[in-house]
Amino acid sequence: MRVLHVAAEIYPLVKTGGLADVVAALPPAQARQGLDVRLLLPGLPAVLESVKGARTVVDIGACFGALRVRLLLGRLPGSLLPVYVIEAPYLYRREGNPYQDGRGDEWPDNLQRFALLGWVAAHIAGADADAQWVPEVMHAHDWHAAMACAYMADHAPTGAASVYTVHNLAFQGLFPMHDWPLLGLASRLMSPAGLEYHGQLSFMKAGLKFADRVVTVSPRYAREIATPEFGCGLDGVIRARGEQVSGILNGIDAKVWDPARDSALAHRYDAERPEGKLVCRRALQAEMGLLPDDGALLVTVISRLTAQKGLDLMLAALPALLQAGGQLALQGSGDAALEAALLEAQRAHPGRVVCRIGYDEARAHRLIAGADVIAVPSRFEPCGLTQLYGLRYGTLPLVRRVGGLADTVADDDGPGAATGFIFDAATPAALAQALLRAAELRRQPEAWQARWAAAMAQELSWDGPAARYARLYEAAVANPRR
Ligand code: ADP
Ligand code: GLC
Repeated sequence: MRVLHVAAEIYPLVKTGGLADVVAALPPAQARQGLDVRLLLPGLPAVLESVKGARTVVDIGACFGALRVRLLLGRLPGSLLPVYVIEAPYLYRREGNPYQDGRGDEWPDNLQRFALLGWVAAHIAGADADAQWVPEVMHAHDWHAAMACAYMADHAPTGAASVYTVHNLAFQGLFPMHDWPLLGLASRLMSPAGLEYHGQLSFMKAGLKFADRVVTVSPRYAREIATPEFGCGLDGVIRARGEQVSGILNGIDAKVWDPARDSALAHRYDAERPEGKLVCRRALQAEMGLLPDDGALLVTVISRLTAQKGLDLMLAALPALLQAGGQLALQGSGDAALEAALLEAQRAHPGRVVCRIGYDEARAHRLIAGADVIAVPSRFEPCGLTQLYGLRYGTLPLVRRVGGLADTVADDDGPGAATGFIFDAATPAALAQALLRAAELRRQPEAWQARWAAAMAQELSWDGPAARYARLYEAAVANPRR
C-alpha cells in the first residue's frame, strides 16, 4: 500500500506540539510493517535546510501568490523515507513558529500557505505531480493539510482514498469568506454543506466533510467531538459522518523516549534497574533550584500554556500540593497571563515551585525522568503525549478523565492495574484531591512501586496504531465516502 502523509510539522525540525511527534514516528512505523510511505511537507526553513539529495520533481511556477514554487523530493536526516518538500520561498521562508509571526499573530497569508500544501497533495494523489509514484491513500493531518481532501473531492476522482486525522478540533483554520476565490474551488462548496462555517471559510471542514475516513487520536475523543460540549460547533458535521469517524490512539517513539537509552538524563534506568531514577530526581532538583528533599512529591508539567491545558486549575490547587510537602517543576510557554501567574507562584514559593517559560526538548526529558508525577489537568485532550512519556519513564500521570488521557491512564477505580491518578471535575478541588492522593500513595512504597511497575509495563509503541491505520486505509480504499 502506497501512503502519502501530509502535514505542517515534523519533529525535530518543526514542532509546536504533539502533531510533530506523531508525524515523525507513525510513517516509519508503517514502513517497518511493509507500507510504501512518503511525506509531503511545506518548505519551511528548517525543512529545506535539512533535506538531503533533493531533486526537482516538478517546477510548478507561480501559484497562490508565490512566483516561484517547486516540488522537491529528497530525504530527511536519520530517515529512510522519501519526503516531498514544497519550495515556495515567498510563502514559507519564515523563521520561528510555522503559523504565527514573532508577535504571536497569525501570518496574514495562512490561507494561501496551507491551501498550497493541500493543493500539491491532491496533485500528487491525482498522479499529476510525480508519474513515478502515485499514492493509494493520501493521509492529511490537521487543518493545515485538510484542503487536500476538498481538492481531491472537487476534481475528477483520482483513485486515491483520503484519510484525515484530527489532532485537535479546536484549531480549525478559519478565514474570511471573501478570500474564497483564492482557493480555486467550485463555488458549490461555498456553502454550509461545503466549507462554510458560520460565515467563515473552514479548512477543518474540508477534512471532516470530504475525507473518505476521519480519525481522531483517541477513541474517547472521537465520541466526545460528536457532542456539543467538545464539538467546537462541528459536532453535527461529525455525527453526520457516522461510522466513518473513529479513534486510533497515538503511540510514542520508543527510540526518542526511552529512559534506558536517553542521553539527556543524569543517569539511565529501566524497570529492572530503577535506581537511576533517584539520581535523575536529585539532579533535577539541583538543576531547577528545588530543595533537595527526597520525601517531597515532585510534580512536573510540560505544556503549551493555553486554556485547553487547565493550568489555571494547577495554580489554584498549588496551595494543597505545597501543604502536603510537594514540589512543582513546570516548563511551558504560551498565554502571557498564565506565564506571569506561574512566575509569580515561583517567586512566592522559592525552592518549592519552579516555572521555566520557554521550550527546551532536553529539559523536558529530564523533567519527566526526575519527577514522581506528571500532571495533565486538561479541559479537553485529543490524545496527549506527555502522560504517555510519563508512563514510559515511571512518572505516574495525574490526569483529568477526558479524551486520550482517560483512554491511556488507569486509576484504582477501573478494571485493570492502576498506572496513575484520574480526577473528574475541572475544578481546583478535584485536582487538589488527586494530588493529595498521589502524595499519600508515595508514602506507601509498596503500593507506589506496584503502580510504577504497571505504568512502565504498558505497551505504548506505534506497532498497534500503525496496524490499525493500515486496516482503516484498506477500508477507505474498498469503501470510499459516498
Ligand atoms: P499538544 O500537542 O496539545 O501540545 P501533546 O501532549 O500531544 O500536547 O504534545 C506536546 C508535545 O510538546 C510533547 O512532545 C511535549 O513534550 C512537548 N512540549 C510542550 N511544551 C513544551 C516545552 N515548553 N518544552 C519542551 N517540550 C514541550
Ligand atoms: C494535538 C492534541 C494532543 C495530541 C497531539 C498529537 O496537539 O492537542 O492531545 O496528543 O495533537 O496527536
